[in-house]
This record gives sequence, C-alpha cells and structure tokens, in this order.
Amino acid sequence: MSTVKDHIEKNKEKYLSELFDLLRIPSVSADSKHKDDVRKAALFVMNKLKEAGADKVELMETGGHPIVFGEKTVDPSRPTVLVYGHYDVQPPDPLALWNSPPFEPTVRDGKIYARGSCDDKGQVYMHIKALEIMIQQNDVPCNIKFMIEGEEEVGSANLGAFVKANKARLKADVILISDTALISLNQPSITVGLRGLSYMEVQVTGPNRDLHSGVYGGAVANPVNVLCQMIASLHDQNGRVNIPGFYDDVAELSTADRAALNKAPFDLDEYKKELGIAEVQGERGYTTLERTGIRPTLDVNGIWGGYTGEGAKTVLPSTASAKISMRLVPNQHPDKITELFTRHFKSIAPRSVSVNVIAHHGGEAAVTPTDSTAFRAAARAFEEVWGKTPIPTRDGGSIPIVALFKKELGLDTVLMGFGLDSDALHSPNEHYGIQNFLIGIETIVAFHRQFGGTR
Ligand code: BES
Ligand code: MN
Ligand code: MN
Repeated sequence: MSTVKDHIEKNKEKYLSELFDLLRIPSVSADSKHKDDVRKAALFVMNKLKEAGADKVELMETGGHPIVFGEKTVDPSRPTVLVYGHYDVQPPDPLALWNSPPFEPTVRDGKIYARGSCDDKGQVYMHIKALEIMIQQNDVPCNIKFMIEGEEEVGSANLGAFVKANKARLKADVILISDTALISLNQPSITVGLRGLSYMEVQVTGPNRDLHSGVYGGAVANPVNVLCQMIASLHDQNGRVNIPGFYDDVAELSTADRAALNKAPFDLDEYKKELGIAEVQGERGYTTLERTGIRPTLDVNGIWGGYTGEGAKTVLPSTASAKISMRLVPNQHPDKITELFTRHFKSIAPRSVSVNVIAHHGGEAAVTPTDSTAFRAAARAFEEVWGKTPIPTRDGGSIPIVALFKKELGLDTVLMGFGLDSDALHSPNEHYGIQNFLIGIETIVAFHRQFGGTR
C-alpha cells in the first residue's frame, strides 16, 4: 500500500481540478441572485462525497440554503468524528480589485486565487479527499460524518434548528472543523479559541428630506455628521469600547495564560509591512495577539449616507447609516451585548435626530479544550506529518456554531485549520496555498488514524 503522501502526490492534479470545479460555482449565500448557484455547490459537494464512498449522502432542506449530510460508518464501536464546514462564500466585491476573476480559479506562485479557495471550499474539499483516500486504502479508522452547510457566511440562521432536530443523526464523539488559520507553513498551530459576534445596523434620521446644504446647513442637524460623532464616541482614549457594561462579563486571562499566548511566533514589523500600515492600534495594555485573540472589539463595517456619486453635490442628507459589529470573548453574551449597544446608542443621540437600531446575527465565543483525546490526536497528527508540535492559538474570527455544538450536542470541537491570516479571506484576491491544501489532506488522514487508534 502506498503511503498517504505518495497517494496525494500521484492524484494531486485530479484533486485540484475537482476543487477548481467547485470554486467556479459562485455560491454567494448573501445574494439571492445566487440562490441556484448555492444549491449547485451543495449538489457538487454531495456528489463528491458519494464518489468518495460516503453512505447516506443527502441534501437536507432548511428554511434557507440546504445542508449536505453524509457518513461512513465502519464500526459502531469505533469513535465517530463529525466534520463541519461550509460551501457558501462571501460576496466577491469589490470586483475591480481582483487580479483574476473571483470564480475563475487561477494559480499564481503556488497559490489558488478564487473566492472560497481558503474559506471554506478548499478546506472542506481536503476532508472529502481524505475520506476518499482512507476508503481507497481500505483503512477508515473511525466513523466519519459530514455536515456541510450553505449559510455560514450569513450567520447560520437555520443551522441551530437543524442541529436540534437531528441530534441522533449527528451523534459523534468530536467535531472536526477546518475553517481557521495556521501560524505558518513552518509552524503548525491548532486554534483553541474563536471570538463571538454581535452585528448591528444603525440609522440616524434628521430632516424629513434631503436639504440644500447652503440654505439649511448650520441650522439643521446633519445625520452624517451626527452619526460620525456618535461612532467616534464609542471608543475612549485607551482604545476601549465606551458602552456601559460592555466589559462586565469579559473572561480575563491569567498572567500565565497571557504569557503563553504571547509566546507564539509573531513579527510585528512583518505584520505592519504586510498590511501597509505604519503603526498598529488597539486597546492599551494588550499586545496585537491579545487584541485579536482575547479582547472584545467594536468596528464599523460600512457607513453610508448623502451624496457619494461623481463630482460634488451640495446636500444635507436626511439619513445616515452604518453597520457595526462587535467581536466578543468568552462569557460575553451576544444578546446582552446587543441590548447594551442598542440602549447606549439611542441614549447618545441628540434630540435633533431620531435613531433606529436593528440587530443582525450574532454568536458566542468558543474555547476548545487542549486536554482531550481528540486534541491530542490532532497534535500528534501534526507532529507526524509536519515534524513539529502545533502551538495552540486564539483566532479573532468567529464560527458561532462551535458554541452551539457544545450546547446542543455536548460536543467539543477540534479546529484544525490550514489557511493563513494572509490568505485574504473576505477580501479581493482570496487565495489558498496548494501546499496547504495537500498537506492538509495528509494531516487530516493522520488525525483520523491517531483518533481511531489503529496506529
Ligand atoms: N472561517 C471564517 C472564520 C475564521 C476566519 C475563523 C479566520 C478564524 C480565522 C468564517 O467563515 C467567517 O468568516 N465567520 C464570520 C462570522 C459569521 C457569523 C458571518 C466572521 O468571523 O466574520
Ligand atoms: Mn469560513
Ligand atoms: Mn468566512
């Protein structure tokens, strides 16, 4: 029997060309124009799972985009791994900034450029190929279930109900997700923390119509000016979020835990250079790794109002809006934060405007254990394939379903991601290293062998 590495080497062109077919499907879950494409991607994943040799493969309908389910049960006495991922992608905008079209996968410099290449089609596909290899080598050491959804990028609104309604089908010993980042190809890591999220939208309204900014300017509140002032007041001098109660429930790390977190290799100069910034910025008293890993934040994601077309139009706009998200840390509850934000934002509005606040999606932060059998199996898989012990890290992104899996199924998750922070997720020119893809497949097979205990 050939080694897994040889097997991957021999078949890599086929794996890549299949992945490219998946990347060509513009499965943008946020955009209703792409509803059929999202479904097409689900069917593609379903068929590839079938071809790989999974049983009971099914497209399961939800109130939104479908969930692909499949499983390979080898022996009920063996442990069961539930693989979760998503086949939907973020919108590709702004299109003009892509160097090659987002849905025409292109290889440059050993990297696959396409929307979803890293987040998360490329990473989901590693699991499908890992299954195929294990079946072809007649060595599937654990039972494996797949649940691949199509609404992760829009808040997984239908996944909670699906999980609650399908507990028996989803019965497993651990959840395995590849949808996070590594430190680098030279230093493997396993994500052990993700932040939560509260996503808000605000609208500030002044006069009942757009006004001439010369005739009325100076006498009537300008909603864009007011909104900017309100937003500016949401942070204090120390970079802390200025909402009463915001930090009340924040789980603080011990000095030892903070020291451990800061031991991860991190080059601030390289970080600034890669982003084209002269200086970093954030909450005083915390390092960059802490600011993204263990501290809550507030950011404006988009702001609009008034005239933004060509040339100049003198206008005092009637309304202004912004999308504002808060990243949360363990013990902060998204509903409570949403409530605190709403109350505070309304309270700081001057009487000259009215304010409307709506809540989009949210989710809790997650911390995964490092002392579980599954985590140790993952660590050993990295040691075996990479020759290095993975470092536990806390990522700043969010996968709200991780907390939900713990609550509803009582299951811990292993976050075995193979992307890089520099892969431009959600940005123009998203990419995924071919090396990351191939070594990811190998590491996933090693995980199943370690976890299944056949070696
Ligand atoms: N895969 C990302 C989350 C992620 C990225 C975690 C990098 C760790 C490192 C996921 O697809 C994502 O984008 N999540 C959203 C939240 C979701 C509710 C829309 C996010 O973090 O903004
Ligand atoms: Mn993702
Ligand atoms: Mn994403």
